[in-house]
This record gives sequence, structure tokens and C-alpha cells, in this order.
Amino acid sequence: MPGEYRADLQRLIVVQGDTEPASVEQQRRLGGTAPSLYDLRNLFQVNVEEGRHLWAMVYLLHAYFGRGGRDEADALLQRNSGDLDSPRILGAFNEETPDWLSFFMFTYFTDRDGKYQLGTLKESAFDPLSRTCEFMLKEEAHHMFVGTTGVDRVVARTAELMREHDTDDVAPHGGIPLDVIQKYVNFHYSVSLDLFGSERSTNAANYFTAGLKGRWQEERRRDDHVLTEDAARIDVVRDGEVTTEEVPALLALNNDLRREYVTDCESGMKRWNRVLDRAGIERRLALPHVGFNRRVGAFAGHHVTPRGDVVGADAWEANRERWLPGEADKAHVLSLMRPVYEPGRIASWIAPPAKGINDKPVEYEYVRFP
Ligand SMILES: [Fe+2]
Ligand SMILES: [Fe+2]
Repeated sequence: MPGEYRADLQRLIVVQGDTEPASVEQQRRLGGTAPSLYDLRNLFQVNVEEGRHLWAMVYLLHAYFGRGGRDEADALLQRNSGDLDSPRILGAFNEETPDWLSFFMFTYFTDRDGKYQLGTLKESAFDPLSRTCEFMLKEEAHHMFVGTTGVDRVVARTAELMREHDTDDVAPHGGIPLDVIQKYVNFHYSVSLDLFGSERSTNAANYFTAGLKGRWQEERRRDDHVLTEDAARIDVVRDGEVTTEEVPALLALNNDLRREYVTDCESGMKRWNRVLDRAGIERRLALPHVGFNRRVGAFAGHHVTPRGDVVGADAWEANRERWLPGEADKAHVLSLMRPVYEPGRIASWIAPPAKGINDKPVEYEYVRFP
């Protein structure tokens, strides 16, 4: 491998590798409050696989990057999610996952970011990385399934309680209000968008040109795969408004990947809104604007509402608790987190799964306690 690319490639592997144990650290307390044995088993599978993804990245560092790679692999074990002195590299992986609604949102939105990042690394000319990512993507699909169906079930239970008690405020009835679910969507979606980096990025261009990464589904793209002649539009905030700007396509690759991700995220919204529709509920969930609550890229430092209006800092702060989970919302969700460990039983705030795992019934004893 040419020396000039070596450092970049090692960095890509370290950044990906750092996310894998981070999510296990974030989720480490959830086993104490699983809403059912079915969910507990899913949590364990997700955690074991993330641990294995760390291992896969560490293997590459040890096998191909010499002393520097081994040092970086050690450093992966030193960092810890949320640690003030030695945090994980990316912001979303230092957030807390204190409750199961956060877990389902994380596996929907943040594991889905993982899917897209792995999709670009799968196109790498460095074949050991490409092959590893191909295999990791298969496991990622299950993590996203846990998230998608987890939120399905929370929404279904909320809708059921709304109808039963003829109210939007299902909190006193042991459910999670739709507003709170929306705020969790807003939070997890926005911190996951930050993982795509700046809309305009020379690093992304260099990685692509050097063949270290590709685009999402590179082989299906009908262009020259070199992009030196192409242009693309990226989001910018100008004169207090969100607009777009034309840049060389190579500089817009993070934006390109993010666009694919956003389209994918929309599918969850449609799905959850179908659950509401079928239950006869008129209210709907929606993704906030891509500029909402951002700390990275074109929107960082701006105050964008979920509808996409740029407002002043005061106006934004005044509405923060309408848009993002506040202390009361988090406390309510946390108050519902009690372990339900009898086979076939399920917590009050979530509907049972549509079916069990590996053709076993929902009532199967998925986890045995010694
Ligand atoms: Fe992973
Ligand atoms: Fe994952």
C-alpha cells in the first residue's frame, strides 16, 4: 500500500472501529430494564455483533498497519463513550442511551448511519477492508430491524392507549405520548446526521479519488466514477435562509451519502405513520429539517427549526423543550423502564413483537437466568 494513503486508510478504520464498542458502552445498562425476554435477547445479539465489529477493525489494524496500527488498536480500548477525558471520536457515540426508546431510535437512526458508512468502505480498493465491511453490513441489517420494529411497537402501543382513553396524553396510562416519540426522533436523527461530516469536504474527495472509499452503491452509479468534471449542490445557510450552492461533485460526497441516508430514514416515518393510520389516529410523525439541531457542517452555529426556518438563538432556545426531549420527557420514559423477564410477558408501554426469533414463538424463553 502506498505510504501516502496509509495514514488516511488507518484513520478511516480507526474512526469506524471506534463506533463499534461505543454503542455497547452506551447500551450497557439496558439489560437491567428490558421490556421482555425477546427484547433482551435482541439487545444481547446487537451487543455481541458490535463487539465483533470492533474485533474485525482491530484485526485490520494489527495485520496491516504495523506498530502504528497496534497503538491505535490499544487506544480504541482506552477511549470510553461519554468519558470526559477520553471520549469516543464521534459525538453521537458519546450520547447516553439510558432507556429502550433511545435504544430503538439509536438502532434505527445511528446504526443506519453505520450502514451508509460501511457501504462506502465496502467500495474500498483495500480489499481486506472491503470484505470485512460487506460482512458487517449483513449484521447491521439486524440492528436496524430491531430499531424499526421496536419503534413500530412503541407507536402501536401509544396509538392503542390513545384510542382506549380518548386522549393524546397517554403518559398517565403507562404509555409514551406521540409528542415524546417525535422529540426522540428529532434528537436521534439530528445527531446521526452530524456523523456524515461537513457537506463540503476535501477529505471525502481525497478518500474517493485515492480509492479508499466509494459512494453508496458505486457500481449502480451511471457516471464516470471519477467525477472531476461534475458538479453537485449542497445545503448552505446564506443571509438567514437555507439555500443550496453548486460545488465540484468531489467536494459534495458527504452530502451525497447523507441524501441517500435521509431517503432511507423517510421509509421508517412512512411505516410508523401507517401504524397510526391503521389505528385511526390522525396525527403523524415526521423527520425534522436536516438543519435542525446540528453541530457539524453548514448548519452548525445556526438555529434551524424542525420546519427549516432559520431563527435567532433566543427563539430556538425558547422552543427547545417542544422539539427535543426535556427532563420531564426523559424522566417519564425512564419511569416506564422496568424489567419484564417472564416469558411471553411485555411491558405496558410497548406492543408485543409480530413474531418471535428463529421460528420460535413470542412466548419462548429467549434468555435463561442462572
Ligand atoms: Fe457495527
Ligand atoms: Fe450496528
